[in-house]
Parts: sequence; C-alpha cells; structure tokens
Amino acid sequence: MAPARYEPDRTAARRPPGHRAPGDKDDERAGRDGPAGSQGRHDEHTVSPTRRRRRLRHPPVHGPCMETIMNRTPATAPTPAPAATPVTVEDALRSRRSVRAFLPTPVPRSTVERLLALAARSASNSNCQPWQVHVVSGAAKRSLTAALLRSHAGDDAGRGRDYAYQPERDGWHEPFRSRRRRFGESLYRDTLGIRADDTDARLDHHRRNYDFFGAPVGIVLTTSRHPLQSALVDAGLFLQALMLAARGDGLDTCPQASVIDFSPVLRRHLPIPDDQLIVCGVALGYADPAHRLNRLRTPREPVVSFATFHEDEAG
Ligand SMILES: Cc1cc2nc3c(=O)[nH]c(=O)nc-3n(C[C@H](O)[C@H](O)[C@H](O)COP(=O)(O)O)c2cc1C
Repeated sequence: MAPARYEPDRTAARRPPGHRAPGDKDDERAGRDGPAGSQGRHDEHTVSPTRRRRRLRHPPVHGPCMETIMNRTPATAPTPAPAATPVTVEDALRSRRSVRAFLPTPVPRSTVERLLALAARSASNSNCQPWQVHVVSGAAKRSLTAALLRSHAGDDAGRGRDYAYQPERDGWHEPFRSRRRRFGESLYRDTLGIRADDTDARLDHHRRNYDFFGAPVGIVLTTSRHPLQSALVDAGLFLQALMLAARGDGLDTCPQASVIDFSPVLRRHLPIPDDQLIVCGVALGYADPAHRLNRLRTPREPVVSFATFHEDEAG
C-alpha cells in the first residue's frame, strides 16, 4: 500500500501550530515574496479587482494581499474569528486551496454544523445522501492524533485502508505520474526546501497530516459501501461543497487521504459503522497566513486540454 506523502518544515513541526518564533524565516519570506510557483503573476487564482472588493475573511494569500493579511493577522497569537463575509461561488472556487498550516483559533461547533448542512445540499444519486462524518476537536482530536502517530511510527496493526484509493508508487500512468512528481517538487523542494533524498524531513512533514496540520477541527468523511461507486462520487461532491462552504466563512481546509492509511485506528476511535467506508479526512480551520506552506499554489491545465466541444451534427 503506497502511503501518500504530503508534508511541513521540521522546525515548525516542533512548535505548537500557529506559534511563531521571533525572526522566524518563514515570516520574513512570507512577507517579502509572492507565492511559490506563481512568480507574482496573476493566474487562475487571481480574483478580479471587483471581486476582491468583496473581501474574504482570509483572502487568497498571494501577491498584493500578503502584506494586508500579515498586518491584520499577527501569527504570534490566536486570532478571534471575525464576522462572516459573503463570497461569490467564483471567489470560493478561486480561493480554495489545500491549507497545510492552521492557526489554533477555534471553530465554533455551530459553524461546523452549518457548513455540514450546506455541504449536505450536494447532489447525490437519487438523493441517497450516503455520506457520514465524524468531527473531532479538543481532547478527542488529540487522542486520535496520538493514536495515528503511534501507528505511523510502527504499529502495523493500525495500518490498512478501506479501499484502494490510489495506485502503488510505481503504478501511475502519464500524465498523472508527471503531474504528481511536479506537485511533490513544488511542495517539498520549492515550498519546504526539502531535498528529494531527505527522507527524515519528508516524513516529518508527512506526520503533520495526522495532527490535521494543526487545524482545530478534523473531519473523517465516510460513505456507504452499498452501492459503493455512486456513493464515492456523492462523497466527493459533499467534500468539495464542504471545502467551498468553508471559504464563505473565511475558513480553509485540506482534504486528507493520508489518514485512511490507518483505517483500524480510525475505527477504534470513532463509531464508524461497518457498512460505511472511510473516504478521507479533512482539516478545517483558519489558515496561518505567515506559514510558508501556505504559499504553495498549484497550477491547472487549460480548458482546451480536457474539454471537447461538439457543435456540428455528429456523423
Ligand atoms: C481526496 C483527496 C485527498 C488528499 N489527501 C491529501 C493528504 O493526505 N495530504 C495533503 O497534504 N494533501 C492532500 N490532498 C490535497 C491535494 O494534494 C491537492 O488538492 C492538490 O495538490 C491540488 O492543490 P489545491 O487543493 O491546493 O488546489 C488531497 C486531495 C484530495 C482531493
């Protein structure tokens, strides 16, 4: 079973999430530079000036917005959750990204409940709504994280997935193999400065998945095994809706397949019915705008590369 490697820098991993040491290199670099990979250009993540006026609670962390965010959100102390600002669907789509460093600022349970209710507006096969979620925070999250990390460190009994989420490391076909390699390089080498052969540093980052990257809320998304295929599609729709709804409250997310490597641990800690399959985890919270991990931006293929328009009569 190929573990999905995703991860942060070693020094940051030893500090509490959201904590910044004076003179922290991440802070300096985050304040000076544009996002890694974007070279300061406006790209598909750029919100039009008109749209930018309707400010997100934590707007996309790139280019011109960075100083504003750094001033508004000192990373040395937890920030109280500001009032919600409505965003357009386009804003939410453009600003959603996988956030891998969160502030410790709590997310009220009422907010999580509202986001889940919004996500449940997703379409599903014959309105079956096959998804379920387990939401962990506080002591429950700490205890789950400790158990996941114990298993990651060597307790093989805790390992195992409910489904074959992805091919083995060498089983990827093109173009996905290359896209995956590029993503790994932009995360580990360009964003974290970790060399390809530095296994320890890569593992240090990967381990942070099991703390939900310091987010105050971890969500485990499951779906019905009967019928499985449509339920997986439906769970994917729910996942995306949840991540977009979070943006409406200035919250960020990271979907996490890494946690499903330890299905027995999740099942020991959470009352997941046998007929529910564990799809993935989701970290939910307020992004730490100063953390270098949150400078990572991923590119997208242009529409022409994946869309075929058919306008003339077939034949
Ligand atoms: C189902 C799913 C599982 C994922 N699992 C992880 C994970 O375990 N750890 C992680 O850091 N990122 C994970 N990701 C995030 C992807 O790497 C990310 O979505 C992709 O690189 C595109 O970047 P973006 O989300 O910032 O646009 C996952 C994404 C999805 C959709």
